[in-house]
Amino acid sequence: MSTEMQEMHIDIGLVNTIVARSSLSFIDGEKGILEYVGYDIDDLARQSTFEETTYLLWYCHLPSRSELADFTAKIRSNYDLSEAMWDMIVSLPRDASPMHALRTLTSALSLEDPAADDPSEEANARKSLFMLAKMPALIAGFDRHRKGLDLVRPDLDAPLAESFLYMLTGEKPTERMARAMDICLILHADHGFNASTFASLVTISTLSDMYSAVTTAIGTLKGPLHGGANQGVMLMLDEISTIDEVEPYVLQKFANKERIMGFGHRVYKAYDPRATYLKTFAEGIAQDTGNNELFAKSQRIEEVMDREVGAKGIYPNVDFYSATTYFSLGIDLDLFTPLFAMSRVSGWTAHCLEYLRENRLIRPRCDYVGPHEQTYVSISQR
Ligand code: CMC
Repeated sequence: MSTEMQEMHIDIGLVNTIVARSSLSFIDGEKGILEYVGYDIDDLARQSTFEETTYLLWYCHLPSRSELADFTAKIRSNYDLSEAMWDMIVSLPRDASPMHALRTLTSALSLEDPAADDPSEEANARKSLFMLAKMPALIAGFDRHRKGLDLVRPDLDAPLAESFLYMLTGEKPTERMARAMDICLILHADHGFNASTFASLVTISTLSDMYSAVTTAIGTLKGPLHGGANQGVMLMLDEISTIDEVEPYVLQKFANKERIMGFGHRVYKAYDPRATYLKTFAEGIAQDTGNNELFAKSQRIEEVMDREVGAKGIYPNVDFYSATTYFSLGIDLDLFTPLFAMSRVSGWTAHCLEYLRENRLIRPRCDYVGPHEQTYVSISQR
């Protein structure tokens, strides 16, 4: 090993490595605190909107009324897709997974942007807004296509969350449903250098482009240890028929050394503050929509987990109660992770915009443990 390499340390999984400075989200994993630009997540979930939260993440201050009105108008004017994009949606195989479809369609947005490779901050901000505004139509459009339903155009007068539910169902959602969706979007908008955000930073640090960075992030979010966990939670709740089955189910998972989806976190060793808020919200929406049994099963899982592994700091994470909330909203389970992407695009792009201001290529090393000085034997003699 070279002297230079000897001075480095190995940190598998980057558990103890700080990669860069950021002013966007602050997480105290011991106390269970999450702030976006200094604002507590609970205050934002209670009082803000997804559009305002996105503005906060992109511009690092809360907007004035006119700034918010202007920003919202810009987002809404970008909701709709080009005819070519709608055609592309209906050309996709109906049995494709929505996350594969979303990754492909987001990447395809770059094809109709003549400034896709413009590296200026202004162009990158425009591209961020373009992707954020169009993602609801990509997700809802693909869902309707795969179900053989007519596509529904966005509601240009509605907030993003409401317009999404309208495109998905073809009906104007109730105020409570639209607010539930909006809150989920706020809670998932950013979370430090999580795996998908870091992946987007690796891409943007090569001075590639924003579409590539977001496409990379979507592919990374998809994994069951990251954004794919909310779908895993719902599959688990589906497998457990009654409350009495919860305890043996969880204990069997432990016996098989399997993980319980929606529990544990790399950073939080206390209750995930997003889950605290979502739990209360999930209970209300489950009651409204006749899904009390589902909520009761979730609560029982939490009780058993707390007894078994609470002392190790394994608590529900954001995905646990968002699964109950999305299910109660009538959303198909394989759309849960695309919804996470629809929200997190605000955080991915915010971090890319921030990182580019002091860009440094992200290029870690590996500790080579393979052989040396091997003798090459030509193919004819092997
Ligand atoms: N169920 C059972 N045991 C668990 C779980 C779980 N969900 N999570 C962690 N553990 C145990 C794990 O077995 C290990 O035990 P031991 O020390 O006895 O071997 C210990 O806790 C530490 O686990 P780890 O994998 O070293 O911790 P990590 O920081 O690498 O993992 C995690 C974090 C999120 C990958 C993990 O908790 C997990 O797999 N959770 C389930 C998947 C999940 O819900 N993911 C969503 C994360 S939140 C949304 C997001 O940000 O994407």
